[in-house]
Amino acid sequence: MADAFTGPEPDLAALLASRPALSMQAREGLCFESVPLNAIADQYGTPVWVYGAGSMEARYKALRAALDAENLPAHIHYAVKANDHLAILGLFHRLGAGADVVSIGEFLRARRVGVAGAEIVYSGVGKSAAEIEAALAQGIGQINVESAEELEMISGIAARMGVSAPVALRMNPDVDAGTHAKITTGLAENKFGIAAAEIPALYARAASLPGIKPRGIALHIGSQILSTTPYAEAYARAAAMVGALRAQGQSVEVLDLGGGLGIGYHDEPGLNLAAFAATVRRAVGGLGVQLLLEPGRYLVGPAGLLLASVILQKRTEKRFVVLDAAMNELMRPALYEAWHGILPVDPALFHGAQSPADVVGPICESADCFAEGRALPDLPPGTRVALLDTGAYGAVMSSAYNARPRAASVLIEHGQTRLITPRQAPQDLWADEIV
Ligand code: LLP
Repeated sequence: MADAFTGPEPDLAALLASRPALSMQAREGLCFESVPLNAIADQYGTPVWVYGAGSMEARYKALRAALDAENLPAHIHYAVKANDHLAILGLFHRLGAGADVVSIGEFLRARRVGVAGAEIVYSGVGKSAAEIEAALAQGIGQINVESAEELEMISGIAARMGVSAPVALRMNPDVDAGTHAKITTGLAENKFGIAAAEIPALYARAASLPGIKPRGIALHIGSQILSTTPYAEAYARAAAMVGALRAQGQSVEVLDLGGGLGIGYHDEPGLNLAAFAATVRRAVGGLGVQLLLEPGRYLVGPAGLLLASVILQKRTEKRFVVLDAAMNELMRPALYEAWHGILPVDPALFHGAQSPADVVGPICESADCFAEGRALPDLPPGTRVALLDTGAYGAVMSSAYNARPRAASVLIEHGQTRLITPRQAPQDLWADEIV
């Protein structure tokens, strides 16, 4: 997040150099996975989300390899909330990932691309009775229980259905992940999980309840974590909990380690995967449990960008670059003061003289601002820019505010582009409304 990064802002060349999927070609301009972004904008219009299947696959395989190098019995459950497009869910399913979901909508999306119910983990502080029933009916693999009240609710539903609900208790490890306040989840003050002190009694209660099969412990301490330190602390507490539960005669088969693996939004490295895997091995590798991981951002964040066109440059005492993309597409800067790299697509502009500019959208709110005082070249109307690292928590958080139709999205596969979401027509905005 912007507030966690203290280094100087990287220049355009540094942004490019730290992102292997991007290249600047003398004639074609900025390319993503070898495809010129100008060609994508010409064909599909802007604003358009551009995703690289090769980048997603490479990131999944790098994480898999890091876990395998430490001989960890870990299964990757892609966190659907980061990007729930069916084409992307299908890609991770084919690579062997399960899914981590927080609503029945996400559950059904994962099922739609062929993820088995048993391969899905369901977290969240407020699962409704209807959601729990639907997930149980489709053979959910694991429900991460976030309170004593929820445990009783699941027991009642499962017993009535005559099934056994596989549950993990989500422990709140009370560890500060050191990220933005709005995305930290593992502190005692947060709404997530169950206090460690309450877990042993609740686990025993779970084992005695009808319709409940306790499988283990889950935790998730936050998102965009760049250091292994909070993980080491939280996982040590989880390991101690597994020991305590076993000492009281309970069986613990699963430890769900959550997600949160951070990426470099500037030109800093993301979380070091080898160091992360070594941390996992040291803390929990010897427990003899099935490990689960729930990464979202790490897998898809750098594998996507938002391609936009400049509508005009407005000059007051400042320079405003007004784009055709806005906060309704990409909320992260307005919501978290998140920093995203912005690169001009045109090769001549890329090397042009720079001056500070506020990069904004057309929405009637001052929060509709992607960057303040950013060093950028002259960006005449019609030129294009790429907003980087927006594959995670981009399109999924977008809205139709100001009656702005949903942007298109395109997937690059082996150097070919494929439209995976058509641009919404204005009349589709009100197609479901009743006058
Ligand atoms: N598991 C659980 C239980 C979660 O709550 C989350 C994210 C994840 C896994 C995946 O976390 P990741 O690996 O993607 O960090 N909208 C915010 C991020 C919110 C994350 C919420 N929970 C953003 O744009 O930064």
